[in-house]
Amino acid sequence: MFADPSSFKQLLLQIGNSIILRLENTCAYSQVHRNSGSTHRFNKCSISKDNLKRSQRVAAVMMNGNQSIERYAVVTGANKGIGFETVRQLAASGVTVLLTARNEKRGTEAVSVLHGHGLLNVLYHQLDVQDPQSIEDLANFIQTQFGRLDILVNNAGATGVVVDEDGLRALNIDPASWLSGKATNIVQGVIKTTYDKAKECLDTNYYGVKNVIRALLPLLQRSTSGARIVNVSSLRGELWRIPNEQRRKELGDVESLSEKKIDGFVEKFLEDLSNDELEANGWSKMLPAYSVSKAMLNAYTRVLGKTYPEMCINCVHPGYVDTDLNWHTGTMTLEEGAQGSVMLALLPQGGPSGCYFDRTQVAEF
Ligand SMILES: NC(=O)c1ccc[n+]([C@@H]2O[C@H](COP(=O)([O-])OP(=O)(O)OC[C@H]3O[C@@H](n4cnc5c(N)ncnc54)[C@H](OP(=O)(O)O)[C@@H]3O)[C@@H](O)[C@H]2O)c1
Repeated sequence: MFADPSSFKQLLLQIGNSIILRLENTCAYSQVHRNSGSTHRFNKCSISKDNLKRSQRVAAVMMNGNQSIERYAVVTGANKGIGFETVRQLAASGVTVLLTARNEKRGTEAVSVLHGHGLLNVLYHQLDVQDPQSIEDLANFIQTQFGRLDILVNNAGATGVVVDEDGLRALNIDPASWLSGKATNIVQGVIKTTYDKAKECLDTNYYGVKNVIRALLPLLQRSTSGARIVNVSSLRGELWRIPNEQRRKELGDVESLSEKKIDGFVEKFLEDLSNDELEANGWSKMLPAYSVSKAMLNAYTRVLGKTYPEMCINCVHPGYVDTDLNWHTGTMTLEEGAQGSVMLALLPQGGPSGCYFDRTQVAEF
């Protein structure tokens, strides 16, 4: 099993009762037994005595209390933007991270960048959250390689609109107007909702998250450090933005919320969209599908939090971050944008669950 170090892709992995360690920029590999703490090197590598000693020293530190080394995380939609930065920060804190992306080239390139920064504890795996087979393949990979999962960050997102980017730039909307909703009427000429885009958005931001969680839940239930699920949401999904009062009340009543009820809202939204009745039936005019997808994601997070009290399951607005998703209208850096997700991914035991965070602060749904 340990015969060929190259098969471990320059990684530090835990397999069964052993940890495989490769020191950065060296050929030094150690196999460390978890129970006895004993180490030995691989025959195939040419290892200098110094490197072997260093490898064994690092391995000993890992075995004696640096628990983060034994945590495994998945981040979805992580080839760029906030997801990529979330992977970087988690890996820098010692978590072994599966950087997932729907496109292999974009995903492996992103991993190479992180390897270039010495973060060898990042692995690529393909994941299109709209594709059931892709989700199943990821679950099987984690089962085979790690046997469990500790952290899941559902970060992948789509906007549900077609945008005239030049037209949008020409409007030169100030960030305050974007965030408060004041720009809603101004942008209608350059941001269009189509049924296909709206469907793609809901299938990614809501159903995609649900399907990934459903597939990875058995692995999260085997977490030894306490499972953490982070659903990356948006302030667009906050309840006060929902024009229809009855819907706002129902979504805000956690006691009566259920997955079935939330699915029902999504189906009603799509029906109203296809009948051109969004405004008449009290759906948000600003990025309607995106707003609905995130409001439903928040509601679903609350249901999950109640159903699995042994885990910490939260949703987070990352801030208004400069990324492709908002056509680079955002004002915050990626580093700032990933802080909320990373904090929630690394919550200590007994941390909050079923909550909504505005970046790192708990906020009103
Ligand atoms: N930026 C902000 O100001 C802001 C504000 C509030 C919330 N958010 C949320 O933050 C999250 C990250 O967004 P971002 O701003 O970092 O945007 P981004 O840079 O555009 O990244 C979005 C990521 O999602 C991926 N993705 C889209 N559909 C996917 C699918 N079906 N399967 C797998 N991956 C898919 C994209 O992959 P491709 O490269 O292949 O397209 C990309 O990696 C999203 O959930 C977004 O709603 C962002």
